[in-house]
Amino acid sequence: MATDSPLIIALDYSSLDAALCMADQLDPKRCRVKVGKELFTRSGPAVLEALHGRGFEIFLDLKFHDIPNTVAGAVQAAAEQGVWMVNVHACGGRKMMEAAAKRLDDHRLSTHLIAVTVLTSMQAEDLRETGIDDTPEAHVLRLAALTQQSGLGGVVCSAQEAAQIKSLFGNDFLKVTPGIRPSFAAANDQERIMTPSDAMRVGSTHLVIGRPITQAKEPMMALASIEAELAG
Ligand code: C5P
Repeated sequence: MATDSPLIIALDYSSLDAALCMADQLDPKRCRVKVGKELFTRSGPAVLEALHGRGFEIFLDLKFHDIPNTVAGAVQAAAEQGVWMVNVHACGGRKMMEAAAKRLDDHRLSTHLIAVTVLTSMQAEDLRETGIDDTPEAHVLRLAALTQQSGLGGVVCSAQEAAQIKSLFGNDFLKVTPGIRPSFAAANDQERIMTPSDAMRVGSTHLVIGRPITQAKEPMMALASIEAELAG
């Protein structure tokens, strides 16, 4: 059951039960869900099956980074389990990304394959310690270009980067943006935040939203206010 919604709800839970309890309060016609490393490591593919069974499209956020053949196999495994989107680390390089994209093509798998450029937790000093003297901003653009040249469909990026990525790499290159805070929500530990409508206005194609919805008393009410904000 496909949805046109740009909203992807992050199911950041440590158990299958907790994740499904939240999913059962959401409507798969009005959002997708994101499964990350902790939930997947604890629950395994069972969480994918359970969410698919409820009609959700899934972004499997495992950020693969390894030798090309290993990443291609992991991406194929994700796609064969029917996930809507999966991601890799762009710093794994061109050969890794091309191998992953080719594997999906060869098997006619239509799962969206996107890349993480620079983790937002990395600052200039952290990059320098790994041998990269570019600013984080310049490195993001370099890796986004490499991602596109390697045949991937988009990147995870902050809303602050979305406009530039859109102007350099086009509308169709997906820009999946976390760090979203509706006007009614607390910032939590996110530092550089943007509202859903501002993030869409500057070029995000999808918005990853966690706590503003998962910690709301009425998750679907929170989702409805975000939809209203986007429509307004
Ligand atoms: O609860 P919140 O809306 O902050 O959740 C955002 C989600 O997006 C989390 O799953 C978090 O891991 C993810 N994320 C992020 N910032 C990034 C990359 C991913 O917040 N730069």
